Amino acid sequence: MALLTRGVARIITSGQATKLLSTTSMKSLSCGRGLSFTVSRMASSVRCTGRKAEVSPPSHRWFSTPAAESVRTASAIEKCPDCHSAMTGFRRVMIKDIDPSIAPVTAEVVDGKSIQLEWPDGHRSEFDWQWLQDRSFTQEARDQRREAKRRKLQLWGSEQLEKLQPVDFDALMTDEMALYDFFNTIDTVGLALTRNVPCKVGQQQRLAERIAYLRPTHYGLHESSVYSKPNTSNLAFTGQRLHCHTDMPQYSSPAGILLLHCVQEAEEGGENELIDGYHAAYQLKEKDPEAFHTLTTTPVSFAMHGKDYIRYDLEKTRPIISLNPEGEVVRICYANQLRSALMDVPVERVQPFYRAMRAWDDVLYHPDNCILTKLNAGEMVVFDNWRLVHGRRGFQGGRHVQTAYMDWDEVRSFLGVVRRERNLNN
Ligand code: OGA
Ligand code: ZN
Repeated sequence: MALLTRGVARIITSGQATKLLSTTSMKSLSCGRGLSFTVSRMASSVRCTGRKAEVSPPSHRWFSTPAAESVRTASAIEKCPDCHSAMTGFRRVMIKDIDPSIAPVTAEVVDGKSIQLEWPDGHRSEFDWQWLQDRSFTQEARDQRREAKRRKLQLWGSEQLEKLQPVDFDALMTDEMALYDFFNTIDTVGLALTRNVPCKVGQQQRLAERIAYLRPTHYGLHESSVYSKPNTSNLAFTGQRLHCHTDMPQYSSPAGILLLHCVQEAEEGGENELIDGYHAAYQLKEKDPEAFHTLTTTPVSFAMHGKDYIRYDLEKTRPIISLNPEGEVVRICYANQLRSALMDVPVERVQPFYRAMRAWDDVLYHPDNCILTKLNAGEMVVFDNWRLVHGRRGFQGGRHVQTAYMDWDEVRSFLGVVRRERNLNN
């Protein structure tokens, strides 16, 4: 059911049209496919069901939705050259030129597939039935659209190690579908492994450039070499243990994806710990709701300064577990080694915060949650840095790992392009 109201396109997808409000001012339009519209000249709303459309007088109930401009500026069908740039499809009309209380003066069914409206200033808009349905404002339709867009997450524990199917690096370099599956897996599972990567620097850049580019950081424009170095401002560049963390919590937007390429494995130690942070967060919510609440609401500062590719002095404050408005976990930012002792909370919140971090740490390091694996030379693990929490055991000898980053926007864009071009659902 579609409802066009005071310049507002609404669609009600189920139920029959309600009773006609004023039959005297109504005009019935039939499209000959079991679909008809009834329109009033004075109308400010048009309701359509599979069989019938109705027009009702102005009503506050339907007012002030953001679709007024879509109605005014024509639908996807009619690209009015005054309102849209034909070349780019961008909207040209300015908000100041949109009357939020605009109402159509006439309406007409076209070929049984669309409805054409005329506006007081002479503009005409044609709305495809499907186009309207796809933009329905009903709760049900919005829930369905949100559900369709929801990430299909697979949460896991330490058993995931057995399920990791290494992909040949050459396949990623030559086969677009292999590349698509690889990054799609990172989106759903959180990590993927590739093998037979040449044991020399520059391989993450080669992989990233199949899609887009690497994300520059204060470690450099491309990759960063992680091995034991003298006089470093980063614990990673020593042979010491790195406790479980996410990378770049000191940035306002930490990189979405981390690529770890083992060029040379350690003689001893150097194993990586990998934990599904979303799964851990939901476990914490279940076991200790108070600790979960504390970690989703306490502002924590992560700070880092030093010199690498550039001199840097960064600090960012945010909760360790970030939720979206629906209460779903969307990002973990956690690096105890970089956590600032300066806290912007009343003193009575400090102890509960430490208690919550202990509870969180217990979940992270629980053997059922934590994968412990040693990368061999020629392996690269690529994972979601907003989701996985990772660590590294201390090591001896000439271990050499390359680290590099990508952002989710470029990866999601690539997945979207491939889906569109190949007509894939997922
Ligand atoms: C890092 C890191 C992992 C490794 O540098 O932040 O997590 O295996 N390195 O050295
Ligand atoms: Zn790290």
